[in-house]
Amino acid sequence: MAEISAEGGTDAGGDAARERAVEAALARLDLDTKTRLLAGQDMWSLPALPEIGLRSLVMSDGPIGVRGVRWTADDPSVALPSPTALAAAWDPALARRAGRLLAQEARRKGVHVLLAPTVNLHRTPLGGRHFEAYSEDPYLTGEIGTGYVQGVQDGGVGTTVKHFVANDAETDRFTVDNKIAARPLRELYLAPFEAIVENARPWGIMTAYNQVNGVTMTEHHHLVNEVLRGEWGFDGFNVSDWMAARSTTGDIEGGLDVAMPGPHTVYGEALAAAVRAGEVEESAVDTAVRNVLRLAARVGALDGAPPVVTEPPAPLDGDALAREIAHRGFVLVRNEERHGVRGEARGGAHEDVRDGSAALPLKPGRTVALSGAAARDARVLGGGSAQVFPDHTVSPLDGLTAALREGALTFSIGADPSDELAPAEQGFTLRAVCRDAEGKVLGEGSLPNGQVQWIGDDLPAGVTHEALASVEVVGTFTPRESGEHSFGTRGLGAFTLTVAGEAVFDGVQSMGPETDPFEAFFGAPVERAKVALTAGESVEVSLLHPLDKEFAAPLPAVMFSFVHLGPRRDPDELIAEAVEAARAADTAVVVVATTERVESEGFDRTDLALPGRQDDLVRAVAAANPNTVVVVNAGSPVEMPWREDVAAILLSWFPGQEGGAALADVLTGAAEPGGRLPTTWPAALADAPVTATTPTDGELAYDEGVFIGYRAWDRAGAVPAYAFGHGLGYTTWSYDSLETTTGKATVRITNTGTRTGREVVQIYLAAASDPIERPARWLAGFASVEAAAGASVEVEIPLPRRAFEIWDEEKNDWTFVPGTYEVRAAHSLADTRLTATLNV
Ligand code: BGC
Repeated sequence: MAEISAEGGTDAGGDAARERAVEAALARLDLDTKTRLLAGQDMWSLPALPEIGLRSLVMSDGPIGVRGVRWTADDPSVALPSPTALAAAWDPALARRAGRLLAQEARRKGVHVLLAPTVNLHRTPLGGRHFEAYSEDPYLTGEIGTGYVQGVQDGGVGTTVKHFVANDAETDRFTVDNKIAARPLRELYLAPFEAIVENARPWGIMTAYNQVNGVTMTEHHHLVNEVLRGEWGFDGFNVSDWMAARSTTGDIEGGLDVAMPGPHTVYGEALAAAVRAGEVEESAVDTAVRNVLRLAARVGALDGAPPVVTEPPAPLDGDALAREIAHRGFVLVRNEERHGVRGEARGGAHEDVRDGSAALPLKPGRTVALSGAAARDARVLGGGSAQVFPDHTVSPLDGLTAALREGALTFSIGADPSDELAPAEQGFTLRAVCRDAEGKVLGEGSLPNGQVQWIGDDLPAGVTHEALASVEVVGTFTPRESGEHSFGTRGLGAFTLTVAGEAVFDGVQSMGPETDPFEAFFGAPVERAKVALTAGESVEVSLLHPLDKEFAAPLPAVMFSFVHLGPRRDPDELIAEAVEAARAADTAVVVVATTERVESEGFDRTDLALPGRQDDLVRAVAAANPNTVVVVNAGSPVEMPWREDVAAILLSWFPGQEGGAALADVLTGAAEPGGRLPTTWPAALADAPVTATTPTDGELAYDEGVFIGYRAWDRAGAVPAYAFGHGLGYTTWSYDSLETTTGKATVRITNTGTRTGREVVQIYLAAASDPIERPARWLAGFASVEAAAGASVEVEIPLPRRAFEIWDEEKNDWTFVPGTYEVRAAHSLADTRLTATLNV
């Protein structure tokens, strides 16, 4: 097959030259070297083989930035908005630009393969990694994923589309057996992978931890060898999710090429021994090695093979792109008429009259009362492996301070949902001192926050795992508020905590029988002491952690954190303060958010409520100021019981490092909120049709079949708070005409408002009659179009054949379903503007 190059041309000659180089290199390798190449040499890379001109292939997460091989704020990366935000822009071309920026970041950090994108589906809003996946709809997911993969590979960097397949929830993710019938597996869960393989030709795939229908995904011969490679023609490399590879013979026979991380894996020596024992054919090893060498050839890590990209695309400005994607993904779900204010808001009363304009954008020159802890300490990205460390973040407070005239903005905390200690950052200056068993200093590491996460060889200069006996996090803390400060630890083992010269804790955190081995990584912080401190007065702090092999993580690693929480204030007092400020301002902006303990990799959510007193804060502020705008800083749906009582609601997702600047753009009207919901937003968890994430006897039954997301809401006859595809901009549109033929819909729209805007034209299909139960309607195509005020645009939207097909479980194949279809041109699933009939 021919490569599509960055310029859109083909690279068939390059493919052939790379295959020749791959075969030549393979022929020069002996069995032990080949099996060594299939196992990680450390956390993130494969061994170099200088004898064949192969450099070490380096991988890194993914998906919103490129962390690089070091898990530390010392090695910063551009942090783009989270995948739900990118998908909300409904624009594969924008996703492609995101990918190009990430390729640029990868090259800067010496990374050949980005461990992304995540294209599992939003089967239920409770999924812990919901923020990291695109959508509940397989077509939208496939389109965004295609743009993203094309963009990364335009820059000559590989991707691993993940997690193949059905890693749609986190509970018992290492072992859960997802029971999925063939039809939903094909029509929903495999569909984005299939589309991306076909349209973007990814150079890699990552097989998931979970099982599908009784077979663990790293060993899934049928889905990997027969479907992915056989039917779809995937020719990239297949890497295990981290620590997912558990069987030497099972994995190699199941089509797994690379077992990560290393150095202890089921491949390497164990695989060579299995070949010698006659348990595995050497040809299976050769197949895997070929796939790895092909990757190396593509990314330019194999001498003699021409890389796919010789000239990377023109450099992109990461800050500017992060800001653009943020406002393109913000979804304005509600924007009511604003109320007039008497006396220019100088403590003046809000009149009970509407003034004819919408709450957003804000009127120039008016005052804003901002509240919410996340307005000051924004949650810009989701937790877990998706974490990167940007060198700066712009909070809503920063963004609005810069955008509004002096004196126009007040800030009060209002409600602080983070009742947990977090890595020591704000006000701390810390370093890590490494000592050997005799107490001799081996080396020191800088530590921009209190997290020590040294995995594999990523240790401070002069330090080795063998010699290292203790790590002391030491430095100063200058509080920004007076009061009782809490200090604590996260991680396993012995700790001595000293604050202002006094040892306030000396004890051991042991691993319980139920503790997940990842507890040390994603585990809960524990409060160890409270100390009264005065704002602005520095104190010395230290956390000493002698290393005990008994508590060692599953990989050679040192992982623990020095954690802190500022003084807690009376919650009612905080709300009262925010209400006072809101009463005196023209507009109140409340930022509400989830926390790391609510929404992250490693576990699923149990409810959709906003944590802490945030709902109370919104209600109280809205009662004091009718022009209340709520900004929802969450990666996935939350309940908003006050949603009919506020003037506007803007979903900002996890908006990336420039989130606050983009928010100011959108609130002031410098930019339009461009997003449409990529997932149905329930009013309450109880209304959501699919919520099961906990396996029974190790099994999770996908009993709902093809009915997830809006397909399930339709079937249940239930109405969500906000429909799939919903989102308001700052202009209005008329849909003027819709024409359909087999293969495409042509839609003409006019911008009937007063400013330039962007519309996402959505095409849904509904079958007049069905030989088999199908969803009431489904997304078949879409296009993102921009038009100036008064201008009309005509857009052609392809209607792929697949939109008219179902997976026939008896025939074990796709079947085209002829008949009469209603084609709907829509602003959202719930807002059809034009319909046409199509007979196919
Ligand atoms: C995650 C993957 C990630 C890998 C490496 C795993 O726990 O599931 O998405 O790429 O870790 O960090």
